[in-house]
Amino acid sequence: MSPISEAKLSRFDFPEGFVFGAATAAYQIEGSGFGGAGASHWDTFAATPNNVVRAEDGRVACDHYHRWPADLDLLQAAHMDAYRFSTSWARIMPDGRKINPEGLDFYDRLVDGMLERGLKPFQTLYHWEMPSALADLGGWTNRDVAEWFADYAEATTRRLGDRVAAIATINEPWCVAWLSHFMGIHAPGHRDIRAAARAMHHVLLAHGRAVQRLRGMGQANLGIVLNFDHTDPASQSPEDLAAADRWDGIFNRWFIEGITRKTYPEAVLAGLSSHMPQGWEKDMDLIGQKLDWLGVNYYTRHTVAAAKDTPWPAIRDVPGNLPKTQMGWEIYPQGLEGFLVRMARDYVGDLPLYVTENGMANADVVEDGAVSDRIREDYLFAHLAATKRAIDQGAQVKGFFYWSLLDNYEWAEGYDKRFGLVHVDFQTQKRTPKSSYHALARALARND
Ligand code: FCB
Repeated sequence: MSPISEAKLSRFDFPEGFVFGAATAAYQIEGSGFGGAGASHWDTFAATPNNVVRAEDGRVACDHYHRWPADLDLLQAAHMDAYRFSTSWARIMPDGRKINPEGLDFYDRLVDGMLERGLKPFQTLYHWEMPSALADLGGWTNRDVAEWFADYAEATTRRLGDRVAAIATINEPWCVAWLSHFMGIHAPGHRDIRAAARAMHHVLLAHGRAVQRLRGMGQANLGIVLNFDHTDPASQSPEDLAAADRWDGIFNRWFIEGITRKTYPEAVLAGLSSHMPQGWEKDMDLIGQKLDWLGVNYYTRHTVAAAKDTPWPAIRDVPGNLPKTQMGWEIYPQGLEGFLVRMARDYVGDLPLYVTENGMANADVVEDGAVSDRIREDYLFAHLAATKRAIDQGAQVKGFFYWSLLDNYEWAEGYDKRFGLVHVDFQTQKRTPKSSYHALARALARND
């Protein structure tokens, strides 16, 4: 790794007003067994053998539903400016349609708690809890999902919209659609190209419909959070170059081009068009609603090769040789710089960008009441430095959110993979800030 930790950045290396924060997601921390939350497709996915490590689920998670005041105190004590959190569809609408007042009350208290602590609330509407009742109707494969989602967005915004600083519609549409409907790795666990094609389109349709609805209500600062994966070809052969282009198209171009150009990449339509919902072209104007900001999630790089004699997209993974995190993800900060610059140059110009997630998993342990995670400090400061380089090249990056505030439920990986700045003992729920938390707090402390 770079020697960046020897010369750490501070708040003052970034433009005036740049916001620093940490991110979480409802299902990963709250505990879905509390407060009248309805079942979501994650509960049933987790209850099905071999989907999740040790079949762990989010029923208790970090018990944030009860411990949120102390968790918000941790953000404030680290001098953070903002908190990226998500509201759970299944908590607010347990049957997918009717409001659970207890659910909205919870987020009402949470948002007020942020404001009391000087934290800007950055809300995400969908970080993956599709209510089971709507999953029963086909979830993301059903076109009606756009209207269901807009109804949920509207109901939630009626209650919280006067106090949140920003709203993202969807977190990581690639995960919602491809990872969950083609690769089968996340809920609902489908491995079906037709389901995937529909989800790839409907997730953007739902985004567009929600933006349109919220704009109609006069709501400001609407965006979406996309994830990007730096993609290298395994060799310079035409086959591997084309495979890398297909992967880049599926992962990195489909969503941003749908929104900013109202088209999908040819390299992806080549495989998906026969499975797309009829008349999808007519939806592109709705999908291309104007955004106020774009969120960029970035973790790693990927090396791919052509997979001969397999159906489209005919891609296989090739292990890379860079140092890896506990997830097995290569550490490649230049990729973040690259995407921030690429977004500004190719797609969004001067639109405000936020790094909405970046972080690493590490097998952290508590020793003598403390956690030393120097490797995460290096990771974090190397990615902050990459963000600064992108700003120096003209990308209008306005903030950076570390993933995650707390160790939490890492989806199909269960509680094994620790991403937090703060260690969580899942037996006792004790929180222990790690050395990375303290390093970031020092960098953000104001002494002017
Ligand atoms: C992202 C998700 C987030 C977390 C991190 C590690 O894909 O948005 O919930 O799981 O990865």
